[in-house]
Amino acid sequence: MADKKARLTIDGLDEAIELPVYSGTEGPDVVDVRPLTGNGRFTYDPGFVSTAACESKITYIDGGAGVLLHGGYPIEQLAEHSDYLEVCYLLLNGELPTPEQKEEFVGTIKRHTMVHEQMSDFFHGFRRDAHPMAIMVAVVGALSAFYHDSLDIDDAYHREVCAYRLVAKMPTIAAMCYKYSIGQPFQYPRNDLNYAENFLHMMFGNPCEDYKPSPVLAKAMDKIFLLHADHEQNASTSTVRLAGSSGANPFACIASGIAALWGPAHGGANEAVLTMLEEIGDESKIEEFVARAKDPNDSFRLMGFGHRVYRNFDPRAKVMKQTCDEVLAELGIEDEPLLKIAKRLEQIALEDEYFVQRKLYPNVDFYSGIILKAIGIPTTMFTVIFALSRTIGWISHWNEFHSSPNKIGRPRQLYTGPSKRDYPA
Ligand code: CMC
Repeated sequence: MADKKARLTIDGLDEAIELPVYSGTEGPDVVDVRPLTGNGRFTYDPGFVSTAACESKITYIDGGAGVLLHGGYPIEQLAEHSDYLEVCYLLLNGELPTPEQKEEFVGTIKRHTMVHEQMSDFFHGFRRDAHPMAIMVAVVGALSAFYHDSLDIDDAYHREVCAYRLVAKMPTIAAMCYKYSIGQPFQYPRNDLNYAENFLHMMFGNPCEDYKPSPVLAKAMDKIFLLHADHEQNASTSTVRLAGSSGANPFACIASGIAALWGPAHGGANEAVLTMLEEIGDESKIEEFVARAKDPNDSFRLMGFGHRVYRNFDPRAKVMKQTCDEVLAELGIEDEPLLKIAKRLEQIALEDEYFVQRKLYPNVDFYSGIILKAIGIPTTMFTVIFALSRTIGWISHWNEFHSSPNKIGRPRQLYTGPSKRDYPA
């Protein structure tokens, strides 16, 4: 595989170390640093800024060019011509399905949408005001205790069944988190609806009246799922891979991904965007908040701006912005005060020297938060919806990890604590 080599000279070593260099199908070459260990050296890369931790065929991102490909297909094309479940198939299998394969896949997912009836007992152990992410991380972890017939991680069929179950049950669990928080009965899934419609039904339906999801809102919901489906080795996906590397239960691994996603620097950003817009409250206060974001002595950041990988624009944000406009037009709420603040912030960020210089563009979560609010989804559910959408990415990476020879993940460290010393006698 290594057609090139790098030579590294290090002070204190007599000879240069020869390191293999690998080329992928896209992206920069990677230098295999494993020979360093035999020479008594480690690499140091906090935040994994320049470390490729694995080989993967699922998703490719070129942050500089604003490119995101799943199985080679650009995200803009998938958003226009495909749908969430088709993208799930693509991420799991590496190829788009034929019409027959798609029908079978969709049918399989529909047959797994219910959760074990006893799972509802877990919800009742939580306070009604618990954050839905707190409930979700626990309930998804608890799936480990329910589905014992598909836990052989070395069996490809078992791994597949796990993936189906997760993709199918996440909307049910997410909606249950919401229903519990507002004291309404859980809604059973409806298999006559498509994936996004069924989610909206479980969120907004109740036993007293039929809920008819608007096609525009269902399409927007599907797009939110699709645009969040996978994003290669981000913090939560890397967490799932690392947890999975020990051979842990797959549902527990996904729960670890949900935990990693929760933070405001990652999936929690969509919730943080709305909280920030509400805190700003009025267009007259925008300048003050922008000044705070620019102040190096203030830890405040404009939520929904910037990305570790995208240094040009976030291609998902472009599609999301268009969906956002469609949803607001459908609902007739284009001049809502929070939206005015959002639009003004977007304009400032695109023009202000500070943001332009640091390439801090609105990211996917800037617009998804606005859409979700317009659909009527409470802010605390935003990250839950991100988790639902990203589950396919997590399980696809977990599956890829277990499909080839692998090693437990075990980073090293630069130790800067006290040297060995004796316990005071
Ligand atoms: N507002 C103000 N300044 C910012 C922001 C922001 N949102 N993001 C980065 N900066 C500044 C930062 O202070 C630094 O300035 P300087 O060079 O003067 O010290 C510079 O830009 C580079 O920032 P960084 O922290 O080195 O960048 P990073 O790659 O480590 O962080 C990030 C990426 C997404 C965590 C960060 O941009 C951020 O906190 N954004 C807000 C939270 C957010 O929207 N997160 C969602 C990401 S998209 C969804 C997902 O993939 O999970």
